Amino acid sequence: MILIDGKKIASELREELKKEVSLLKSKYKKVPGLTVILIGELAPSKIYVKNKEKSANEVGLKSDIIKYPHTIDEKTILEKIKELNNDESVSGILVQLPLPKHIDKQKVIETIIPSKDVDGFHPENVGNLSSGYDSSVPCTPLGCYLLIKKIEPNLSGKKAVVIGRSNLNGKPMTQLLLKENCTVTITHSKTKYLKEECLKGDIIVAAVGIPELVRGDWVKKDAIVIDVGINKTDKGIVGDVNFDEVSKVAKALTPVPGGVGPMTIACLLKNTIDCFKRSQK
Ligand code: GUN
Repeated sequence: MILIDGKKIASELREELKKEVSLLKSKYKKVPGLTVILIGELAPSKIYVKNKEKSANEVGLKSDIIKYPHTIDEKTILEKIKELNNDESVSGILVQLPLPKHIDKQKVIETIIPSKDVDGFHPENVGNLSSGYDSSVPCTPLGCYLLIKKIEPNLSGKKAVVIGRSNLNGKPMTQLLLKENCTVTITHSKTKYLKEECLKGDIIVAAVGIPELVRGDWVKKDAIVIDVGINKTDKGIVGDVNFDEVSKVAKALTPVPGGVGPMTIACLLKNTIDCFKRSQK
């Protein structure tokens, strides 16, 4: 079984991005910039944002974090986003989710100009992805896609089963696999005969948020299994896949942690650089 080393693959991607930033710097005399807006004091969000800044600096991007207390009003956030939309030194804008309840997430997402939407959450980017046009692609499914392509460069005709239908993961993942000519089944927590659906998959992407849902007897021999889950349980953080059981059946499997997670941040840096490149055309 191939243990898909997301840490190593993300580190290789960051090295490539670092070289690219250096080339862009000599060509344009400036570097891509990522601005992250962090609202409130949620510990996981603070950790993510810190990691994003560290990685951005590592590859040579300009990186800013703008922090607000959780009591901040929506108007201030929307005004700040509009200011960043017009700031030439900012290539990418990310507002860390989740947001406090009094701030309308959709309004925030739609205020970010699509050309700086490094999350790929704006409806224009969602539409472009589903139409097969060039667009920002949400970082986690993009990371999953790159991991799958490392194991199997030609996905044409493969049967893929996506578990989870979120805007963040399941839906964009489906679009990426469709673009590669996979036959994709989207399943979710209400799907009947989920085990039988999974057994048909040459590729399984589990992004449903149910600890160790995917068991060894749910997986076809030699399938590629990508585990997006991060679930807090009594025995610590576990994925959506039962690692011990599935590792005995699958051709390749991502661990949790150290699989998809590191790829997400590397893909955010990639998206920032791609936004910069489009803006220079
Ligand atoms: N919070 C957890 N994951 C994400 C993400 O991918 N983007 C944003 N903006 N917030 C998040």
